[in-house]
Amino acid sequence: MKQTKGQESTTGWWVQGDTAPEPGPDALRAAIVDVTRPVVLIRQDDRTIACRGGKVIIGGSAPEGEGVYPLAAYVPPLHPGRLGDPLFKQAFGLDYAYVVGAMANGITSAEMVEAAGQAGLIAFFGSAGLSPGEIEAAIERIQRRLNSRPYGFNLIHTPNEPDLEAGVVDLYLRRGITLVSASAYMDMTLPLVYFRVKGIRRDPDGRIVCPNRIVAKASRVEVARKFFSPPPEKLLMQLVEQGRLSTEEAELSRGIPVADALTAEADSGGHTDNRPAISLLPTMLALRDEMILRHHFDMPLFVGLGGGIATPDSTAAAFSSALRVTIWRGRMPALIRSRICSPAVMQNWSRNS
Ligand SMILES: Cc1cc2nc3c(=O)[nH]c(=O)nc-3n(C[C@H](O)[C@H](O)[C@H](O)COP(=O)(O)O)c2cc1C
Repeated sequence: MKQTKGQESTTGWWVQGDTAPEPGPDALRAAIVDVTRPVVLIRQDDRTIACRGGKVIIGGSAPEGEGVYPLAAYVPPLHPGRLGDPLFKQAFGLDYAYVVGAMANGITSAEMVEAAGQAGLIAFFGSAGLSPGEIEAAIERIQRRLNSRPYGFNLIHTPNEPDLEAGVVDLYLRRGITLVSASAYMDMTLPLVYFRVKGIRRDPDGRIVCPNRIVAKASRVEVARKFFSPPPEKLLMQLVEQGRLSTEEAELSRGIPVADALTAEADSGGHTDNRPAISLLPTMLALRDEMILRHHFDMPLFVGLGGGIATPDSTAAAFSSALRVTIWRGRMPALIRSRICSPAVMQNWSRNS
């Protein structure tokens, strides 16, 4: 191909390296789907041609030499693993800021949980509607196959069967399940709080360590507020009276939120109040900032989004709405994400730490 110069209106220049421009739709398609490399397009003879390697120069006049082409477009690489809040990924041991949401009756199956965990995401097993025996069988299988990869289980509020909820929590604690997705809650319950605070302690640096973590799912701000608050005093006292929590553990529990992360569940295929994501998400993010400032938690709180995120465009929209943390469901990737907090909150964190 001949170098084309003198087109000063171009956005820049591509200087060929070892690989010549690759005309044709196949090369163009291959360039677009390879998200680990930049997409470089040049225009020549009214054709758009994909190029690999070489050097891209944005702006300026054409450099001297052979193999210089006017640049039509340059898109930097964007691997899905780069999306989302790095802190969230770190906190939950993920490569991707995506969560596969629980779907009842094992629809989010052990196989899905394993596949997600192996791939660097996290899935919550769909425990709702299953008997403790069926859940335990899934625990055995997932723990055997996933080893140290991330996974979680659903803890669904069952107001009509409080013993079932308590039984599932006891099962999770007995079998070493340390991460649950808590859903369908309207208020904090004794089993939920017990799961959260069981094993709470201080590390050698004096920081509160909470071995059990909760990713809450809520579509109402008043419910989210309870999850981002310390456990209700009444429930802590009940646990102390029952001898399941020491007074020291109760004292530590007053300094932590019930949940580490929250999925703002907009209108979705699951439990939903038909909330529009565009207003729900900013509301939840503002709440998160407010609660950090009010309670001086020395741990980050994450907010993600779920519901109706089903196409590449809606996924991109969710990721570009200033979020940074993550969730989904299995069939369609409903994305959860959170974001780094506002400057005020960052200042507060630095002061506290
Ligand atoms: C068939 C089905 C069953 C679900 N069951 C549960 C459940 O048991 N617990 C839960 O927390 N969420 C459940 N969900 C909600 C999903 O985890 C997820 O939050 C939601 O589906 C995301 O929104 P989307 O359906 O618009 O993708 C369910 C969703 C579907 C479609």
